[in-house]
Amino acid sequence: MTTTKTKWTKKDLLGLKDLSREEILLILDTAKGFCEISKRPIKKVPALRGRTVVNLFLEPSTRTRVSFELAEKRLSADNLTFSGTSSSSLAKGETLKDMARNIEAMNVDLIVMRHTSSGAPHRLARYLRPGIVNAGDGINEHPTQALLDMFTIREKKKKIEGLKVSFIGDILHSRVARSNIWGLTKLGAEVTVCGPKTLLPVDIESLGVRVTYDVDRAIEGADAITLLRIQLERQKESFFPSLREYMQTFGITRERLERAKRDVIIMHPGPINRGVELADDVADGEYSVILDQVTNGVAVRMAVLYLLSGARS
Ligand code: CP
Repeated sequence: MTTTKTKWTKKDLLGLKDLSREEILLILDTAKGFCEISKRPIKKVPALRGRTVVNLFLEPSTRTRVSFELAEKRLSADNLTFSGTSSSSLAKGETLKDMARNIEAMNVDLIVMRHTSSGAPHRLARYLRPGIVNAGDGINEHPTQALLDMFTIREKKKKIEGLKVSFIGDILHSRVARSNIWGLTKLGAEVTVCGPKTLLPVDIESLGVRVTYDVDRAIEGADAITLLRIQLERQKESFFPSLREYMQTFGITRERLERAKRDVIIMHPGPINRGVELADDVADGEYSVILDQVTNGVAVRMAVLYLLSGARS
């Protein structure tokens, strides 16, 4: 397993497009050291004591929000979260920029931000002093999800270089797919994307991935398969005839997995549409590492917060 001597110099984590292979490996190696803390009876280290982190979640989230909050608490940071727009002064017409400037004026160190608009965290990062962590922006990137996905693959397979990783589902609206493609290709994995033609971006091959519309070809030979959620909330038109037909054509069942490698791992960033992207007995079966992804997410987010804060324990 590769280790890196790179030092972290960036103020923000906005996406994996902006990171070098060495910076990605530094985060993964740092996360490895943080895994053990969550298994202790007292799950806390003083690395971020005295630092303040504000979590701005302006789009729904369960895993990412809870995972960041736990990561911050386990590093002893002072933290608070506000979710949705109805409980903030955004509902009274305040701009995102003004809101963020007011939060900055209270001397916070880091802002973790989820937003429906692609590029919103990048805009804040340009004029705010606190470090900005992108917790998912529109359909652009979800860097910490991809990092925890790569961490999980590396834990299970002991490497990433040379592995075949397939993504099946709604690639068009998936910030998870985009961040994973940037990250996995930088680490030397062979990435395949598969889904209905209407849910694959036209220029996706330019990112260095193989494209197939045949789910069996995406399964054959893959070391890891990630199912991506059909993001109905981002689909203003009909991209396929029905959810039932989607499951029949692209959904992963035990029968379909007969074609897979015996040591394949099945991944999903969540939330799952059971019976659409995958069958219950695949989601909960022996190949699934979906809950390992969630567990690893806390350590990965601890690593990101630690590196961005420049903290030394
Ligand atoms: N994977 C993920 O981003 O899940 P949430 O939307 O629940 O945070």
